[in-house]
This record gives sequence, C-alpha cells and structure tokens, in this order.
Amino acid sequence: MKNLTFISCLLVSGWLTGATAADKNQPIYKDAKAPIEDRVNDLVSKMTLEEKVFQLNQYTLGRNNNANNLGEEVKNLPATLGSVIYFDEDPELRNAAQKKAMEESRLGIPIIFGYDVIHGFRTVYPISLGQACSWNTALVEDACAVAAQESRMSGVDWTFSPMIDVARDGRWGRVAEGYGEDPYTNAAFSAASVRGYQGKNLADGKQVAACLKHYIGYGASEAGRDYVYTEISNQSLWDTYLPPYEAGVKAGAATLMSSFNDISGTPGSANHYIMTEILKNRWKHDGFIVSDWSAVPQLIEQGHAANRKEAARLAFNAGLEMDMMGHCYDKYMAELVKEGKISMAQVDDAVKRVLRLKFRLGLFDNPYTPKTTAKERFLLPQSLATAEKLAEETIVLLKNENNLLPLNTKNKPTIAVVGPLAKNRPELLGSWYGHGHAENVLPINEALNAEFAGKANLIYADGCDFDGNDTAKFNEALSAAQKADIILLCMGEKKSWSGENASRSIIELPAIQEQFIAEMKKAGKPMVLVLANGRPLGLSKVEPLCDAIVEMWQPGVPGGKPLAGVLSGRVNPSGKLSITFPRSTGQIPVYYNQRKSARPNSGKYQDIPSTPLYEFGHGLSYSTFNYGDIKLAKETIKRNEKIVVEVPVTNASKRDGAEVIHWFISDPFCTITRPVKELKHFEKQLIKAGDTYVFRFEIDPMRDLSFVDSDGKRFLENGEYFVTVKDKKVKFTIED
Ligand code: BGC
Repeated sequence: MKNLTFISCLLVSGWLTGATAADKNQPIYKDAKAPIEDRVNDLVSKMTLEEKVFQLNQYTLGRNNNANNLGEEVKNLPATLGSVIYFDEDPELRNAAQKKAMEESRLGIPIIFGYDVIHGFRTVYPISLGQACSWNTALVEDACAVAAQESRMSGVDWTFSPMIDVARDGRWGRVAEGYGEDPYTNAAFSAASVRGYQGKNLADGKQVAACLKHYIGYGASEAGRDYVYTEISNQSLWDTYLPPYEAGVKAGAATLMSSFNDISGTPGSANHYIMTEILKNRWKHDGFIVSDWSAVPQLIEQGHAANRKEAARLAFNAGLEMDMMGHCYDKYMAELVKEGKISMAQVDDAVKRVLRLKFRLGLFDNPYTPKTTAKERFLLPQSLATAEKLAEETIVLLKNENNLLPLNTKNKPTIAVVGPLAKNRPELLGSWYGHGHAENVLPINEALNAEFAGKANLIYADGCDFDGNDTAKFNEALSAAQKADIILLCMGEKKSWSGENASRSIIELPAIQEQFIAEMKKAGKPMVLVLANGRPLGLSKVEPLCDAIVEMWQPGVPGGKPLAGVLSGRVNPSGKLSITFPRSTGQIPVYYNQRKSARPNSGKYQDIPSTPLYEFGHGLSYSTFNYGDIKLAKETIKRNEKIVVEVPVTNASKRDGAEVIHWFISDPFCTITRPVKELKHFEKQLIKAGDTYVFRFEIDPMRDLSFVDSDGKRFLENGEYFVTVKDKKVKFTIED
C-alpha cells in the first residue's frame, strides 16, 4: 500500500511521467497562454462524440431549496459532465466534483457550476421589480457585482440572471423577478446587471457569467398563469420583448436561457427563428443557450414533440445548446447524430460555445474555488452598504396627503405599529432569495426602535395575518391605535406569493388585510400604509382610507432600516414606479405604452375609471421639484442630425432630493402604429435645496425615433414627433 502511495505521489508530481519534458508537447488547450479560440478548437478536435454530448448537459449537485424543481442530489456525477446547478453555499462539494472532472475525465474538462442568484447570494438586496424603481443603473450594477463576488467565492461560476421578461400582468408571480413593464427599462437594467455580474474579466475569481432569461416572451403568459401559452405577434416580439435581450447581448452576456412558453405555436425552447436566426445569425452571439429546467422534455406536454428523442432533435436543431435537467440530450443526442438527424458540425459548434465560456471563466487554468470562510465572503460591510442604499432608492412614496411624512416627532408622538409584517423577517427577503438567511434581515420593528429611539413611543400589535379570516387580534390592534397619534400599517405579501409558479388571480390585498385596514380607520388617526410585496397591487379599496402609502417592495437583508429612514426623514424617497398599479385586477393589462385607441374618449369601463391608480413613473419626494419648459435646440432636423432637448428642474424646497426624469417620445402617425408614448431615456440627479439642474437628452433619430417591422427591419419616417417630460411636451420635425 505504502509503495503504491509513493508511486502515485511520484506520478502526480510528474517524476515518473517526465512531465517537464512533456510540458513542451502539452496540447494547445492546456496552454494558458494560447488564444482561447485555438484552445477551444484544439480541445474539440480531440473529443469523442460521447464527451461532446456530455458537455451539453446540466445536472444538479447539493441540496435543492426550490420546490418547483426538486433535483435529486447526484452523487455519481459523470466525470465528463458539462455543467451542474450547484445548491451549496460552500465550495467544498463543488471542488470535490470538479476534482473528479479534472482528474477522471480523459481530457480533464472542468464543469461549469450555475445557480439562481437573482437578487443577491447571501447579501440579499431588493427584488428586481423594486430595483428598477430606483432608476439607478450604476447602483444595480454595484449590487450585481456584490452578488457575483459572493457567488464566485462560494463555487458558483454562472448565475441564471438577469430575468428581463417584460411583464404587464401583475397576476404572474414572476413579475417580481424582472424590471417591470417597459422594454427600454428592462434593456437598461439588463445591460447594467450584465456589467455588474461579469465585470471586465470573467477569470478574476470575483465575477460570474450572466444568463439572460427567459428567451423569450415568458412574461406574456396568458391570464398571468405560469408555464402557459403566450400569444405574441412578431411585431410585439420586436417592439416589446426583444430589446432587453439585444441590450444584454450587446453588453456581453455570456449565455441565455430558453423560455418555457409556447410562442404563438412554437415553444421558446424549440424556436429556430428566435434562437438561431435572431440570436446567432443576426446578433452574432458566441455564447450558448441553456434550456429552462426540463424545458426540452416539456415540448412533449406542449404538444410539439411526440417523444423525448424528438424533443432533443427539435430543441437542438433550433439552436438550444444545453439541456438543463431534461435528460434528453444525454440519452438521445449521440443516436441522433449517428442517424444523421443532428449534424456533427452543429454539435461541434454547440460544444465550442460551452467550452469558450469555460475558458473565459478561467476554469481550465483555475478549476477550483479557493477556500475562504463565510465571514470572508458574505455580508461584508461594503456589500451591506450597497444593499441598503439600493433598498433606500427602491422605496416609492405613492401617497402623502398633507405631508404626513416624514413623521413629525416634535411632540414625541405615539405610533401604533400594526400588521403581519411589523415584526417579520423572512417575508422581507422576497422570492428567489438565494442563500439569504432570515436572521440577517432587520425587521421593521427593530429598525423603527433604533430610528425613533427617544423621539417617539412605539407600540406594537399584530392585528391580523397575511391571509385567512382570523379577526381575533383586531381588537388589541384597535386599542393600540386608539392610544396612538399615528397608525403605521405594515401589510403586503408573503415571499411565496410571487416568483415562479406563484400566480394570484386577484392582486388586491387579501380580504383580511383590507378588512383590518378598514377596522383601524375607526380609531380616527392618520394612517400610513407600508407595503412589502412582489407585484403591483390593486389598492383602490384601501387607498382612500390611508393618508400616506409607502411601497417598500421586498428589500432583502436591509429589511426595515431604509423604510425607517423614509418615515423619519433621514432618507428622502426618490423611487418611481417601474410598473403601473391598476385600480383593480380587472383592468389588467394596463401599462403606459399601449397603442392608441380608435376612440380615445370612449371605450371606458362603466364601473371604474380607465386610468391606473398609480401610473408608470409615479413617485413622490419630500422635496418639491418645479419643471420649466422643454427647450429644443432646433424645431426641424435632418434625418442624420442629432437634437438636444433640455428641461430645467428646480428644487423649490428646503430639502436636498434626487429627481428622476423620464424622457418619452411619441410618433403621432406612423406606417406601423406606435404606442401612445415610449420611454427613450432616463436620468436620476441629486438636486440640492434651491438649486436648478438642467436635464439633457440628445435625441438620435435612428436610435430613438425609428421603429421596427415584424422582422426587425428598422425604419425612420419623416414628419412630426413629440418629446415629453411629465406634463411638458414639445413638437419637432424630421425631414430629408
Ligand atoms: C426557472 C428558471 C431557473 C431554473 C433553474 C426554472 O424552473 O424557470 O428561472 O433559472 O428553474 O433553477
């Protein structure tokens, strides 16, 4: 035994194998200095069909906490496997699997480890829908960089994020995971998050590969139910759903994930036009597409493939490179190649795409994740500061009658803090909370105690639960409210009510919460409604009862602290809605950039106004911002000329505050009709009390005024256009 150990030590150290001499003859793919394309080509030329096929499969490793995808822990991963979804938060298990791949596979090809890091790995920050309300792309980029660092140091090389599905139906639970209803907004945050995750060098040990998902149109799920059919015309595909992906691809996103949904008859995971024609042929993406979980065999349920083998053929030939947990590629691909139903050239191309990323991530040269302690990688002060700043900026002040907020603490008021979220930690994490721990979340009560120490008396009562019909604690809360000067209602949704497979047919607050709010009104005190939720809510029943409404979304680990800052005035709210709040569920879909009506003054609902309760871009501040008129450099411009528009905004209050400007374009008449207005640029700026800041937007006609046809061909038409900011609007003309 001893002798054997000695011999294997010699083997490892290269003594008996003559490794030093062999180094010179080492294959190109092992040469860290060789260009990546040379390494990729060299390696593929050495691979057998079976080895190639395994590179195109993804299994799981570790304990899974996603109830929708209960992957079994695979103890005996094939050494030649391409990828793994890694459920652990420590690199140890990963390194063991990687060792097997490096040492037991014939060619020593490392595994790429992926995971759903959606809004933070351990330092969980606000859900994406909330992030978009910050309109601060730089801050979102920073937060993604924090997530990347925690992930990579924990053994994850690749995140299945950002989700950039434009979503206009709040019933769909996954609305929480994206950046709202607008293509331009999703595009801006798509690019920002890719920059944050991937940084400048994927191989530096602190970055992860991004994955744009779900390609494409998943957000159009009929009636807001998950996994169902989507009816998307090619015109809408180009107008609405593709722009965020194009922006992400331009920002360098390494991968994409195919979507579950059937797109007008051809499921996303077998859609050649989308995956090959657009992504590879036109956009020249050189990365790869991974299927969504089991999306390949689900082509059978969708009525597109008759069996798993056919599913593998259809998906792969449409341009889908990697099969996530579908076990169709590993089982049938080699057979399909031998039968000539899949070409070897396409297999090689797919494998090259996967290997290219592994080389870019530095996995061949540094396959193992260095060991660090949890303390060294998680919840670092700078990471927490970024999460807190982002959570502050996501808060949207929806209503503030008589300037009730910030709370006046001159006379040390008594505040009754009631509702199911007042002392809750876990629900503030939101859906897809990675490896977030509830004990790291600062609950609202603790944050308020610290914020208002010595300035207000805080009394707490639960009052009611998130749902159900138990009114037993109403009285206790009402008597607390009667003793108080102000009532703070902490209401909203549980984290499991949004995210995957978590649709709601009614997006109002559950009846028990509405009833409780009405009960508290009996105390006759000013009421502040604080909401933490993962979708827009229909608030028309409770809105009239409340003097102020604060939408805090699901903030992650910063928990109640940013909210406490807004209530006390330490933080001046600057968030604005990235999604329209309807008056009632029946109004869905309601979004700002609808196309025009044939009779704009008719066609209204008989029972409610047709306008939303809170429109896209709505959000109040403690500062007062006065807008001047929009100034145009010229009223008529040539097609290839740019035009600068400016609008001065004055902070007429005594408080410094940040204002977000949304620049919208409208094209009143067009060969292909355009939406009422379309966001083309936004900017957030801190304006000191009393100062005026001039916001500028340089309109580039080809970029900002042109439109696409149903095959993505771009046109620019001469004629009139309007640019609007808030209620200011000016006209200009384009001519030859
Ligand atoms: C979800 C994806 C996710 C994947 C892996 C799927 O069910 O739709 O968004 O990335 O699982 O967890």
